[in-house]
This record gives sequence, C-alpha cells and structure tokens, in this order.
Amino acid sequence: MAIAGINNICVVGAGNMGHQIALCCAIAGYKVKCTDISREILTKADEFVNTYLPQRVAKGKMAEEAAQQARANIFFTRDLEEAAVDADVVIEAVLEKLDLKLKLFDQLDKICPEHTILATNSSFIVSSKIAPATKRPEKVCNMHFFNPALVMKLVEVVNGPHTADEVAQKIFDLAKDIGKIPVMLQKEIYGFLVNRILAAINHEAMHIYDMGVASYEDIDKAVVHALGHPMGPFRLMDLTGIDLSYYIGMERYRETGDPTHKPSPIIVEKYVKKEWGQKTGKGFYDYPPK
Ligand code: 3HC
Repeated sequence: MAIAGINNICVVGAGNMGHQIALCCAIAGYKVKCTDISREILTKADEFVNTYLPQRVAKGKMAEEAAQQARANIFFTRDLEEAAVDADVVIEAVLEKLDLKLKLFDQLDKICPEHTILATNSSFIVSSKIAPATKRPEKVCNMHFFNPALVMKLVEVVNGPHTADEVAQKIFDLAKDIGKIPVMLQKEIYGFLVNRILAAINHEAMHIYDMGVASYEDIDKAVVHALGHPMGPFRLMDLTGIDLSYYIGMERYRETGDPTHKPSPIIVEKYVKKEWGQKTGKGFYDYPPK
C-alpha cells in the first residue's frame, strides 16, 4: 500500500458491485468500511467475504495469513457516519438514481474530513451531475469498476471538468495499487468507454431477438463461439442486472427523448417481474440457489 494519504476507504453500497470493490481494497491492505442501508445486503456481503477468502486459500490463490489480514481489514456497518467519518476516499456504489446519489453526496460532504475524495462507481452518471451536491467538486470523480469487481481488471477513471487533476491521478494510482488496470478519460462522456461499446452490442442483440431471428441462447452462443467473449450479451445482462439495463435505458430515453434508447419490451417485462438476473435467481437464464 503506497498511495500517500490514503489509508481508510469507505464503500457506500454493499450490493453487486460495492461488496466486491470493498473486498478488492481490503485484500490490497486498505482499512475498509462498507455500508448499506439494508441489513440483509450487509449480511450477504459479510457471508460472501467469509466464504470467498477461505476459497481463495483452498485454491492456493491466497496465503492463509493474507486472507486473515483481508478479513480483518473489512468491516460492515449500517451507520453511514461511522463508515465515512475517517475515510480518505469514499467509493459510492448505490443504485443508479441521481436523486439518491445527490442526497448521499450531500451527506458525505458533511460527514467526511475536508481532504476526502468522493468517487462514484456509477455506470453512466457523470460526476459533474453529482459534484454540485458538495462543497468540494474538485474532489469528486468517477471511478468505474466492472462486474465481478474482484475479477475484472479494468477501472475507468474520469477526470471531470470540475475534478482537480491531482484528484483524478490519485484515484488512478489507487486503482493500480489494488491490482487493477486503470484508464483515464479526460472528458466526461456518456457510458464512458466500455458501456458505450457494450450498449452497441446489447442494442443489436436485443434488436435481433425482438425481430424473432434467433433465441437469446443462440445469440449468446454466436457471441461466445464466434467473437470469443466469455459470455454473450444476455448472460452478461443477467450478471450485471436487468434492473440496471432498465434504469440505464429509461434514464437515457429521458435525457435524449430518443425512443431507440427505451429499454426493449423483454427488459421491461423482466424488470416488472423482478427477473433481474443472478441477483434474483432468474433473468434470461435460471440461477438455482447454491
Ligand atoms: N465473484 C468473484 N469471483 C468470481 C465470480 C464472482 N461473481 N465469478 C467468477 N469468479 C472468479 C472465480 O473464482 C475464478 O477465479 P480463479 O480463476 O482465480 O479461481 C474466475 O473468476 C473464473 O471463474 P469460473 O471458472 O467459475 O467462471 P468463468 O471462467 O466462466 O468466468 C466470469 C466467469 C469471470 C464472470 C467470466 O464469464 C467473464 O469474464 N464474463 C464477462 C464479464 C464482463 O464482461 N464483465 C463486465 C460487465 S460490464 C460492467 O460491469 C459495467 C457495469 O457498469 C454494467
């Protein structure tokens, strides 16, 4: 651990992304407090850590001592103030709702010390929309991880127009220090790099499916076995969350008024039925409880 001035990290949101981001930081040696308003989500996150670390040891991927240290480095709490009061960096990973993030950043601004950097893991909300909720816009930026965060190496860091260069650089260095491969975006752009590319693939996959050309299983097979992707777009939506695909589509449609951005009927249907993918046990595919 070698980033000057960063010892304590607070991760807000212990869901799909947050608990794994927190664990990445804890494994790298940072003291991490991870918070969520849901007791159930926090319990699940805690159980995940208790299962994941021994599995890494059993697989020979981590020394017993390192696993114990990582476990000792991570602490879960429902109390936002307790989690953020001594943080040097906060990484926000809550639901993709702007009003929620604005409220949270306002609270964090009041709780955190003056020097604290407030980063958002948002998939598509640029930090210039969130920074005005704080009195420290120069210390706000995007730090975007990929799912599953413990596995995927890329982190997109966005140096927003309000972000101080040294703040974006610090977050870039932090990403490197936790074993990730960061890329720096010098302009805020909707969807950053990866989600723009992914959206184009998903849009076309959905269109082919809606036209009745092929089943989603076969579209996934095509992408895996011809393009070499580890999973096809439908299975990937199950992993990242169909609720997220719905929010992104609706938000983009609201912003642009372009009906081609509206979520496809099958996404709306699955959103309403709470078939959100792996997290609810059913999406395009079924995920029986382990
Ligand atoms: N959490 C933590 N670790 C996991 C995991 C999970 N949910 N799923 C798999 N892993 C780990 C395994 O422990 C294993 O680790 P090891 O090799 O060190 O022992 C490794 O990943 C491989 O796992 P498996 O052999 O069980 O499974 P696969 O080889 O099929 O890999 C996968 C699973 C890593 C999820 C792979 O299918 C993959 O890379 N899929 C694509 C994921 C992707 O594209 N992510 C980006 C999504 S876009 C996004 O996140 C942006 C957001 O804004 C929407």
